[in-house]
Amino acid sequence: MKGRQSDQYFAVQTSEDATSKEGFLEKGQTRYQYEASFWQRHKMMVLAQLVILGLWTLIMYFVALQINSLSIHGPDLIHFAREAIFWEERKFKLGDTIQEDSIYSGRPSQELDRAWHDLLNVENIRVDSDTMKHLGREQIGVRIPGEENFIGTLNVYHEIHCLKRIHQYMYQDHYFPDIDDSQREMNRLHNEHCIDFLRQSAMCHGDVGLITFEWSPTNLIPIANATTHQCVNWEKLDQWTRERSVDMLQPGWLVHPTLGPAFPMGEGDKIGAATGHVHGP
Ligand SMILES: *[C@@H]1O[C@H](CO)[C@@H](O)[C@H](O)[C@H]1NC(C)=O
Repeated sequence: MKGRQSDQYFAVQTSEDATSKEGFLEKGQTRYQYEASFWQRHKMMVLAQLVILGLWTLIMYFVALQINSLSIHGPDLIHFAREAIFWEERKFKLGDTIQEDSIYSGRPSQELDRAWHDLLNVENIRVDSDTMKHLGREQIGVRIPGEENFIGTLNVYHEIHCLKRIHQYMYQDHYFPDIDDSQREMNRLHNEHCIDFLRQSAMCHGDVGLITFEWSPTNLIPIANATTHQCVNWEKLDQWTRERSVDMLQPGWLVHPTLGPAFPMGEGDKIGAATGHVHGP
């Protein structure tokens, strides 16, 4: 009687159904029925929770992807070369100090000329015809001889090209020893173009890295003290460009449709303004 009572007590507590009988096996069965009925009763709710959890995970995954692509690739406005763009925070070498210790600045030297040449030598690249079609330029673009592809240059190389010109303009006697007055005027105009191009480029990039100021013991006015810059990873972009680079200046390689070889001597116009904008080395 005592045993029976305890069985009943157990059955009521676990299954809320009073059909339980005597014996250890029965107790086990009761417990099994209890679990099966819990699943039966809550199945829909558990499944619904799982579906909601899955949906949230999916939504969060796509939001994370979006944020990731914005911070790494920047806004998705220009598709060409997009895969080469990775944003990062950088410190500039040599900070804000007034100096000429960069390999790209200072008085003319073979080392300096070589550095500028190496930086710009890859500037002209192969552009696929789909991109040219997208730009509506496949009828007027300059084709690579014997290919469906065209020749192009990323803006950033045009900027560097302009800086090189301005540097050379500072040492005209060295870089343009034999030019006449009209060429000198053309050179001046070309550099004015470059300065305005670089102004628009800086305003276009909008580097929002902050410059703070500090007092110097010897200067009455506060001096600038840079922090970091918002940059693309240059090594990755330059590598991407180098892999697509074409040497447009090979003597006789590029031929004008009616006027003949564009670079018969393998070099561009030094003043670079006589026949429009030539990207020479
Ligand atoms: C600017 O600040 C840094 C510390 O962040 C310091 O090392 C540097 O000398 C400061 N001055 C200049 C002119 O860069």
